[in-house]
Amino acid sequence: MYRTKTCGELRIDHVGQQVTLAGWVQRTRKMGALTFVDLRDRYGITQLVFDEQKNPALCEQAGKLGREFVLQVKGTVNERFAKNAKIPTGDIEILVDELQVLNASEVPPFTIEDHTDGGDELRMKYRYLDLRRTPVRQNIELRHKFCLAVRHFLDNKGFLEIETPVLVGSTPEGARDFIVPSRMNPGQFYALPQSPQTLKQLLMVAGMDRYFQIVKCFRDEDLRADRQPEFTQIDCEMSFVEQDDIISIFEEMTKYLFKEVRGYDLGEQPFIRLPWSEAMRRFGSDKPDMRFGMEFVELKDVLSGTGEFAVFNEAEYIGGICAEGCASYTRKQLDELTNFVKSPQIGAKGLVYARVQEDGTVKSSVDKFYTPEVLNRLKETMNAKPGDLILILSGPDAMKTRKQLCELRLLMGSRLGLRDKNKFALLWVVDFPMFEWSDEEGRLMAMHHPFTSPKPSDIDKLDTDPASVLADAYDMVCNGVEVGGGSIRIHDAVLQAKIFKVLGFTPEKAQEQFGFLMNAFKYGAPPHGGLAYGLDRFVSLFAGLDSIRDCIAFPKNNSGRDVMLDAPSAVDDKQLDELMLEIRSAEK
Ligand code: AMO
Repeated sequence: MYRTKTCGELRIDHVGQQVTLAGWVQRTRKMGALTFVDLRDRYGITQLVFDEQKNPALCEQAGKLGREFVLQVKGTVNERFAKNAKIPTGDIEILVDELQVLNASEVPPFTIEDHTDGGDELRMKYRYLDLRRTPVRQNIELRHKFCLAVRHFLDNKGFLEIETPVLVGSTPEGARDFIVPSRMNPGQFYALPQSPQTLKQLLMVAGMDRYFQIVKCFRDEDLRADRQPEFTQIDCEMSFVEQDDIISIFEEMTKYLFKEVRGYDLGEQPFIRLPWSEAMRRFGSDKPDMRFGMEFVELKDVLSGTGEFAVFNEAEYIGGICAEGCASYTRKQLDELTNFVKSPQIGAKGLVYARVQEDGTVKSSVDKFYTPEVLNRLKETMNAKPGDLILILSGPDAMKTRKQLCELRLLMGSRLGLRDKNKFALLWVVDFPMFEWSDEEGRLMAMHHPFTSPKPSDIDKLDTDPASVLADAYDMVCNGVEVGGGSIRIHDAVLQAKIFKVLGFTPEKAQEQFGFLMNAFKYGAPPHGGLAYGLDRFVSLFAGLDSIRDCIAFPKNNSGRDVMLDAPSAVDDKQLDELMLEIRSAEK
């Protein structure tokens, strides 16, 4: 046996026992005649002691051990003289009788400690070393627990876990596909699934009734902290359901996961359901962070046409937020906020502020354009108190300005400490528009995906005013993150064909791309619907991480590269020949 105990297991009750441990050298230190070695494995750290006076040869051997050497030791569990209350094994140590170096190690490129000196790129290149660090390992353990709890819950509700293929056909809607050339079908390509959307619908046609899968999805899109080119979904679909049935079962699952995996009680109350239009109006976002208020107040009535400030007089939208207790912000702090909203990623033209002073009067950056009465009305409309700071954005495009104000709201929320990672605010955003206009494509695009059902009461408007049609679609939002989304699907071939038409498909193109689905709908498709959660996002919220990368064992960097495997990379000419492919130029 390599070991009789792990490095996290021994306690005071084990004193006197003979044990064999195996693990990695975390660090060594010499104190007089004694050499101490911290031995680490997945389960913890145990202190080893080598005594020069008892066994000089063994002690000399211990003195030569370097960080990350792999050892096997035999010895006796001893009560420590100086106990370490910080670790569970801190009451004991091992008096070592036998030491075997199972493998030496080069000096690792960064220290394998909770707080490491390794930068991001280096840690990703040596991810197998990074994963030895406790905080990273704990994220992986949490992910495992999360998946187990999901399977347990869904199994209990009668869901079947069914695998769907990874090599599928390319579809034009949604993000860009990753494509895979087929050797056996020269000139033809598979695509990696962006999600198993159509396949899970076919499983409903197949009568599977309740499906789920913890499944890899692939999207060739620009990356952000909460996006990876390959990520994992908890993908679910149910037959004979309406929106309320789906919301109810997945709300139950969410509460269960929070309790079981995170130890957090979300309470008995159902989650808030916020119509999309209201979310946009009040928070400028379809995924509002509801851990704090600071809701938008529309100020056009107060500030447009009531003073000489041309910017407001010409604006289509003027909105403000009230930052409590921030009236004392310095010039420099206000300049920082202005620079933030004017930065290229936000793109606002400028920021107007108004401080409510201790005597209740208002002092603003646009004082000269407005009478004190108007400024007082501003204060009242904002419901601002002495000490508060009112921040105002305006612009010619209401939606764009709201999104800018949303970024400012989130920044102020963070500054005021209102975005506590140990607090969770969940809600459903419902009643999404069916379509959104794409300037790039010059046509309406499906806001969720083309298989989403319009609200039955809006079907009539598909011919006359498609832009106003609402969908039976819903997103689950937690702390400003879209953790999941889904919809009731179309199960009628005629309605599906109509949606493809609104999306600009000719009947031939629709048949070519989605014929398999529309044909299936001819054979008794049940009413169905579902949703998918982003597993990586959910787990990183539980772990309080800033990026989903940290809960993925082997993630990609921001350029979509795996720096450890050095992928993507060029392939041999022979491989290209077999695939009948030619590379034009690497620069192109
Ligand atoms: P959607 O595209 O909204 O829906 O994806 C579902 C959830 O997956 C997560 N997600 C991502 N996570 C990490 N990196 C990404 N690049 C990424 N993209 C999406 C999000 C999102 O809420 N087939 C539909 C679901 C359905 O209708 O049932 C779908 O894929 O948390």
